[in-house]
Amino acid sequence: MASTKQNSDRRAFLSFLAASPILAYAGFSSRWIEEVLAAPVPQQNEVVIKSVKEALNVFDFDAAARVKLTPAHYTFITDGSFNNETLRANRDGFLKYEVRLRRLTGITNVDQSVKIFGKAWESPIFFSPVGRMNAYYPDGAVVVAQAAKSTRTLQVLAGSAAVIVDPRGVERVVEARGEPLWIAGLGSSMDEKMLRRFEATGCPVLVWTIDDGGANTIGAKSVQRAGVRDLDREADDRCVGCHANLPQITRITKDTPMDVLGAIGALQGETSVKLNWEDVKRVRDMTKMKIVLKGIVAGEDAALAVKHGVDGIIISNHGGHEDASGRGTIECLPEVLSGAAGKIPVLIDSGFRGGADVFKALALGATAVGIGRPHIWGLSSFGQEGVETVVAILRRELQAIMAQTGAASIAQIHRDSLVPRG
Ligand SMILES: Cc1cc2nc3c(=O)[nH]c(=O)nc-3n(C[C@H](O)[C@H](O)[C@H](O)COP(=O)(O)O)c2cc1C
Repeated sequence: MASTKQNSDRRAFLSFLAASPILAYAGFSSRWIEEVLAAPVPQQNEVVIKSVKEALNVFDFDAAARVKLTPAHYTFITDGSFNNETLRANRDGFLKYEVRLRRLTGITNVDQSVKIFGKAWESPIFFSPVGRMNAYYPDGAVVVAQAAKSTRTLQVLAGSAAVIVDPRGVERVVEARGEPLWIAGLGSSMDEKMLRRFEATGCPVLVWTIDDGGANTIGAKSVQRAGVRDLDREADDRCVGCHANLPQITRITKDTPMDVLGAIGALQGETSVKLNWEDVKRVRDMTKMKIVLKGIVAGEDAALAVKHGVDGIIISNHGGHEDASGRGTIECLPEVLSGAAGKIPVLIDSGFRGGADVFKALALGATAVGIGRPHIWGLSSFGQEGVETVVAILRRELQAIMAQTGAASIAQIHRDSLVPRG
């Protein structure tokens, strides 16, 4: 919605013009002025861009995705769970830090490259795993892989549902990327069969997601409750990954509100909450792939991860999709870094929407920063071009703030470029 102040300023100005003879002399009718007065000024996220060239920042892709997707899918992607406490906290966390700029830095070239496990990447911004991407764009995971290839971006493939159901699902994405991918598996699904399948694709890094815990995704569920029945979820193979195991979703009615609860409750279903550090040891012993635990948010757990032979951490709360902690990941970063004690790389995601956000995490000591929704908004609205443009925008923004702080490379980004907001 347009802000009240913006609309009232504009209205006052137009009323002034309407009352003056200038417009009548210029040939404008009072009816035209009335129409202009009635139309609200659209805010940025109400403007739906028609091409990637119009995009100003990643939020333009949010608005574009909203008109392309079904309401249930759009709200499932974009909303968080419970009352969005954690979703909001992810964004609010960035406000706790300000960036201290320098002037006359003389920087003419910025090198954003980073090395993770000895491999160089063009930029520290990577694609976090997002499952069931073919629900958002035809062959979505393959299309993201094409964008990852053209932008030389690290892509973590969600090894869940659709790509796993398809016997060549993972392999097709790897082919599109042109090199083996990091692959993410969810908590309790991490069994021998899954590990061997990932290994067979040459996967160097297993990302083990351990933050799923019975979310109450009220946004998406309220849309479902309203009776959206746009696809045959039982039969359409784009849908079974999400919907086949929740057949009641198709039958949700206002008379059976408890059905809407679906998988809520950390101890219902096969969620990671039931796992423990013995499971980590078990999986560690089962594979030579590097293991990165995704979802660590506490210093003690970072220390335990190191102790159990884990090779890296992604600090994550699933983008606010899984818990009601109300704690943003950027706020967890200092304690997780301290728990990891420099022994393993610490990556982070959840809530990153601009170059300055990325900069803040790097300045605090993160190795790389993942984006979930932004690249899915890009995918949903403009396919490969959308994903590529999201990457280009974020890299440009990061480049700008690096130059403004005197950092010509990632190694030159320092903690003292941040000050806590007073
Ligand atoms: C629609 C959606 C699906 C997701 N699917 C997965 C998944 O299958 N596996 C996983 O580890 N994380 C998954 N995530 C979490 C992302 O990997 C990432 O942690 C999160 O999106 C980052 O927050 P952001 O969206 O605010 O950037 C998903 C997130 C969203 C929004």
